[in-house]
Amino acid sequence: MAPKKLYIKTYGCQMNVYDSERMAEAMGGEGYETTARPEDADMILLNTCHIREKAAEKVYSELGRYKGLKADKPDLKIGVAGCVAQAEGAEIMRRQPMVDLVVGPQSYHRLPDLLARTHNGAKALDTEFPEEDKFDHLTARPKAKRGPTAFLTVQEGCDKFCAFCVVPYTRGAEVSRPADRVLAEARDLVERGVREITLLGQNVNAYHGHDGGLAGLIRALDKIDGLARIRFTTSHPNDMDEALIAAHGDCDKLMPYLHLPVQAGSDKILKRMNRSHTADDYLRLIERLRAARPDLHLSGDFIVGFPEETEEDFQATMDLIAAVEYGSAFSFKYSERPGTPAAERPQVPEDEKDDRLQRLQALLTTQQRRLQDAMVGRDVHVLFEKPGRMPGQMVGKSEYLHAVHVESDAFAPGDIARIRIDSSGPNSLKGVVAPL
Ligand code: 5AD
Ligand code: SF4
Repeated sequence: MAPKKLYIKTYGCQMNVYDSERMAEAMGGEGYETTARPEDADMILLNTCHIREKAAEKVYSELGRYKGLKADKPDLKIGVAGCVAQAEGAEIMRRQPMVDLVVGPQSYHRLPDLLARTHNGAKALDTEFPEEDKFDHLTARPKAKRGPTAFLTVQEGCDKFCAFCVVPYTRGAEVSRPADRVLAEARDLVERGVREITLLGQNVNAYHGHDGGLAGLIRALDKIDGLARIRFTTSHPNDMDEALIAAHGDCDKLMPYLHLPVQAGSDKILKRMNRSHTADDYLRLIERLRAARPDLHLSGDFIVGFPEETEEDFQATMDLIAAVEYGSAFSFKYSERPGTPAAERPQVPEDEKDDRLQRLQALLTTQQRRLQDAMVGRDVHVLFEKPGRMPGQMVGKSEYLHAVHVESDAFAPGDIARIRIDSSGPNSLKGVVAPL
């Protein structure tokens, strides 16, 4: 019998990318192969994100597009997974009767059982936070070869309750995976060709599954032969401890790039966001990180138009950005999330949010470009990932996460080489093999 086909569409953060891989593996045990074409699928799974309003709307419109497929192929199963599933599971089933199953981010190891329950048009919904560990229930990854980079989820959930954010409600309390499991998974990835691992968690630097927290885990990973690079994301400033700062200075495999969201630069807004740190706390933390690792590139997340944000508050965010000089950043208009405290506060008009976002992004783009252009003439180490669009070209990432194109047929994915940067384009750098 031909294998059944599974199409997964992933929205949102890297943790969802990781979860989608694991769901594909769970369904692999049931004889499903993944496909890139929804029209070929026997099962369609949307792995959703709930962080901003539009994300949920996109899911509904995507579901609408599958109506025809479902009409042509009544056996086609349609499932919704991830954070929209967690938050609005019953609502999804009501709004879109063609959905057969809904599975929250903590229950996806139960996917094969849920699917079995959908025979004869029945519906299945599981948005519990089960006692058992979903990571343990998933079948071991098949020993297939992997690309040079991989994500590895080590921590989930959030206890911070920022006033704008749904994550503590959709992903639950902070939980760390035990270090022995994480290390076994990392070794397995390396055996299969992975050279760079990005540790994932909603509050990854609050990881406490290893002695010495995340820094302890990083030092244990550092000892794995064949693993060349370690990254981690996303961090909260308040969980950036001394040991982790020190690791940035003396752990060679830990890359000099840190995503450390601050969200805003006004102390009044930070307080209302329930961030429990000031702008100055953040700036002093950056100073300590840069003292440990002077070439550290920073990345951040910013929200403009948080309820009651004035022009002066917004300027404080611009000042903070000017003081830090970011290598990259993500910025968003505040989006009202029902059930979160900020949704109850007086809102900033939409055109004001648009205007602030434009000004903020212009500043961030200038900074990003300045830091990228400053790489010209310098040597970086590039981990090659894949052939470039032009024949004879390879593309990889530098330590600082810049995409680097090199015209050479000497490299294969997974190779690392010292490259001298000779030009900087809109989104990437170009270089040649550095002379010895
Ligand atoms: N509105 C806008 N942006 C948000 N984020 C989280 N919740 C909201 C919201 N309600 C942003 C934050 C966070 C990133 C993942 O998404 O900047 O760091
Ligand atoms: Fe959301 Fe704040 Fe937790 Fe990050 S730290 S997931 S922004 S509540």
